Amino acid sequence: MNPPIVKFTIDGKEYLAAAGTYIIDVARESGIFIPTLCNIPGVKPRGACRMCTVSVNGRFMAACTTPASDGMEVRTSSPELEDLRRAILEVMFVEGNHLCPVCEKSGNCDLQALAYRYQIMVPRFPFQFPHRTIDAANPRLVKDHNRCILCKRCIRTVKDAKGRSFFAFRRRGHKIEISIDHEMADLMTDEIAGQAADICPTGALLRKEGGYRIPIAERKYEKVAIGAPDGTDTR
Ligand code: SF4
Ligand code: FES
Repeated sequence: MNPPIVKFTIDGKEYLAAAGTYIIDVARESGIFIPTLCNIPGVKPRGACRMCTVSVNGRFMAACTTPASDGMEVRTSSPELEDLRRAILEVMFVEGNHLCPVCEKSGNCDLQALAYRYQIMVPRFPFQFPHRTIDAANPRLVKDHNRCILCKRCIRTVKDAKGRSFFAFRRRGHKIEISIDHEMADLMTDEIAGQAADICPTGALLRKEGGYRIPIAERKYEKVAIGAPDGTDTR
C-alpha cells in the first residue's frame, strides 16, 4: 500500500509528499537549498553534522532526519538559523586542522564551500590546534584525521559486495577517529579508494598518486558555488 500523502509548507509555500519523506529530500527535489554535510541522497540519514537545521513549527530540527508531516510549517532560513549554521561551521574549523590553501580537496570540498557561503573569517571560538594523526599505510588512500568532521559518510557508503564497510570508528570521546578496517584494507581497489575520496566532504580521505587530476579553477565549487542561486545543490 502506498504511504499517505501529507501536506505541509516550506518557507510559506505548500508542498505534498509521501508520508515519511524527509524534509531535506523534498527541499532538494524542489530546488530549495538547505546546507548539508553528512547527508547523502538515498542513504539512511544519521543527523551527525546538524548543518541542515531548519525551523519546524518554531522548533529547530535536522531537516535530514525529520520526515514531513501534515500541517508542518518549515522555515529554511532566518537570522537565528543562519547564525547557528555559521557557528557549527566555526566549531568544525576550530576543532580540527583545516589547512585549505594546501589541501588537495580545495575547490571540491563541501566544508570549504560552505565556509565561503557563510563568509567564515575569524571564528568566534578559540582554535584548538589538536594533535591528529595521518595514516598513509594503505597503498591507495591517505587518511588525514586533521580534516575529518566525523560525518560517517565513508562508513555508511564505502562497502564491499557483501555490505561490509571499509571504514569504522575507533576510540571514543574526543579521541574518536575514522580507521580503515585492517581486514578490509587489502580489498581496497583504486575504484573504492576513489569512491571514498569522492564521498568524503572534506580532504580527510585522499587518493594516493591521484592529486590534482582536476586542475585548480576547474573544480566543483570553483565552477558552481554551493547552493547557487539557480537552486542547484551541486552535490
Ligand atoms: S573521513 Fe571524511 S567521510 Fe569519513 S567521517 Fe571523516 S569527514 Fe566524513
Ligand atoms: S545534513 Fe542533516 S545533520 Fe548533517
